[in-house]
Amino acid sequence: MKKNVLLIGASGGIAQALIKQFINDASLEHLVTVSRQALEPLSANHEHILIDSTDETQIKAFVDQQKTKFQFTQIVCCTGVLHTSGNQTLKPEKRLEDMNLAQFEEYFKVNTVVPALWLKYAVHLVDKAHAVITVFSARVGSISENQLGGWYGYRASKAALNMIVKTAAVEYKRRAPNTVLVSYHPGTVDTELSKPFQSNVKASKLFTPEFTAQKLILHTSNLDPEGSPYYLDWDGKTINW
Ligand SMILES: NC(=O)c1ccc[n+]([C@@H]2O[C@H](COP(=O)([O-])OP(=O)(O)OC[C@H]3O[C@@H](n4cnc5c(N)ncnc54)[C@H](OP(=O)(O)O)[C@@H]3O)[C@@H](O)[C@H]2O)c1
Repeated sequence: MKKNVLLIGASGGIAQALIKQFINDASLEHLVTVSRQALEPLSANHEHILIDSTDETQIKAFVDQQKTKFQFTQIVCCTGVLHTSGNQTLKPEKRLEDMNLAQFEEYFKVNTVVPALWLKYAVHLVDKAHAVITVFSARVGSISENQLGGWYGYRASKAALNMIVKTAAVEYKRRAPNTVLVSYHPGTVDTELSKPFQSNVKASKLFTPEFTAQKLILHTSNLDPEGSPYYLDWDGKTINW
């Protein structure tokens, strides 16, 4: 089956590795990447478009153009922030007193609302025969598996993203029933996002972006729409919501 892929947030560490793997896939027909950053296309079937996904009008304009061009078989939304967002420094909260409005707003804007907006419009972009939409969640977004505490804003914004995915899946079953929705936890990956928090991670548990991209493509390629939505980790195992 020919693949048409849309990748959102293309400048990030995991996104860059995904792009390389999609480009090397012989069944790729077309790859569209979007980002706030200008990037050079890597092949003739790769098109890159400048979009700030925090501005809904830019997403809508893009979707209005694309929906007559491609039916995407795979959509991956890589946006997320933990300690930096643009020029803003975020500090994952360690205690109740660290919580503040500005930081919550930023976490929820980038980690929850941006992927939610893409889910809103992606229903018009998916290949109706079969499609997979993956958003990057995190294990810390699991409400049932939270034994450690801390990171209030990041956790809550990823838990809220999981709820958006669960809720959207109900509607996708009606409007695009062959679409699979996935909330994905990549493990701890060696990118800018995890840099300040890598010291306590065992070397064997700090994954390269290349390994992560391989695993994501493997685990999301044969999912049955009947079971959608999925909350999966880097090993293909189900995480409790
Ligand atoms: N790395 C890890 O260990 C790890 C672990 C668990 C979950 N995750 C999740 O995996 C995803 C990818 O992470 P990564 O490690 O590749 O991070 P990264 O290298 O920091 O990339 C971050 C991505 O988020 C987008 N972004 C950042 N700030 C933004 C803002 N203010 N407005 C709009 N978009 C913004 C960027 O998009 P542009 O291209 O538009 O700049 C970029 O694609 C994130 O959702 C992250 O939460 C990562």
